[in-house]
Amino acid sequence: GAAELGPYRHYMQKEIFEQPVAIANTLDSVEGISPELFGDGAYRIFKDVDSVLILACGTSYYAGLTAKYWLESMAKIPTSVEVASEYRYRDSVPNPRTLVVTITQSGETADTLAALKHARSLGMEHTLTVCNVSTSAMVRECRLAYITRAGAEIGVASTKAFTTQLVGLFLLTLALAQTRGHLNDEQEAEHLKALRHLPVAVQAVLALEPQIIAWSEEFARKENALFLGRGLHYPIALEGALKLKEISYIHAEAYPAGELKHGPLALVTSAMPVVTVAPNDALLEKLKSNIQEVRARGGELFVFADSDTKIESEAGVHVIRMPEHYGALSAILHTVPLQLLAYHTACARGTDVDKPRNLAKSVTVE
Ligand code: G6P
Repeated sequence: GAAELGPYRHYMQKEIFEQPVAIANTLDSVEGISPELFGDGAYRIFKDVDSVLILACGTSYYAGLTAKYWLESMAKIPTSVEVASEYRYRDSVPNPRTLVVTITQSGETADTLAALKHARSLGMEHTLTVCNVSTSAMVRECRLAYITRAGAEIGVASTKAFTTQLVGLFLLTLALAQTRGHLNDEQEAEHLKALRHLPVAVQAVLALEPQIIAWSEEFARKENALFLGRGLHYPIALEGALKLKEISYIHAEAYPAGELKHGPLALVTSAMPVVTVAPNDALLEKLKSNIQEVRARGGELFVFADSDTKIESEAGVHVIRMPEHYGALSAILHTVPLQLLAYHTACARGTDVDKPRNLAKSVTVE
């Protein structure tokens, strides 16, 4: 009811603003990195695995796509990510040494549960879930688990569940890296420090809300939008586009920025806003040249720029600068302004934000 909402208009807004606490709670019992964070016997399993297969749906699938970048670069373990409803029905090549990781807020999504059972029926017994509900079917079915502490998520569009999933998956990456000899004590300490700084860092991003509200008024008049990211920020662009679709009903698509020239550039006109998730990494220069390609066609850019980039606002280029540079955790921080953009755009269009048409919070039947 209204009392629970406090100063917020919708559960989604409340849940976006709960992220600093949700992340802090998710990290609460983490004193150091070890496989046992994922349950008894995790060390033996982590020692045995030679690859990771992530299975999930919806927003949870995009958390999995993000984790692939971390797992391959930091834990150096080959990782594939698959939509659960595809995996369960196709012929794949089972590997008993694969760690099967499901990601699910509810722990009850029918496709994800069926995909897990399918993997087990193929002889894959090393199973782990990153899940927000400790009493769920998924936690019962998996050998190992990391329980995120996002608290109850009521808004159909997932927000705090996603960012806490990313925290759980980052911990999984560190634990696998450690088991495989790719994480020394100094690196462990650095990563823990960055993780513990996350709640404060997210709080600073939430303070960008007034600037994002100003953008949302323009977005609310559009019928299409394009989201671009590269590397770790490509899955975040996908998540940003999904949020916008789900609650504002604006058609949105995300592309890795380098693919722009292979198709979507044809769609770019002044009627198509292009949201760019632009971190200050080695790929920034390439992203800037993609941006030039859009500008030459009258496209209007909305850039979430990292704190130390040189991109400036100018005609047709709107820039919101992120408060800090976040390194490996940048993907988590860049998620937050995209959630706010979708939220305020939907509010400006007057949609039913917490209960978007045709969608359910948890899809427990196929
Ligand atoms: C539904 C929800 C999404 C969610 C997806 C997967 O489609 O509307 O927000 O991402 O299910 O749910 P899960 O509980 O498995 O993460």
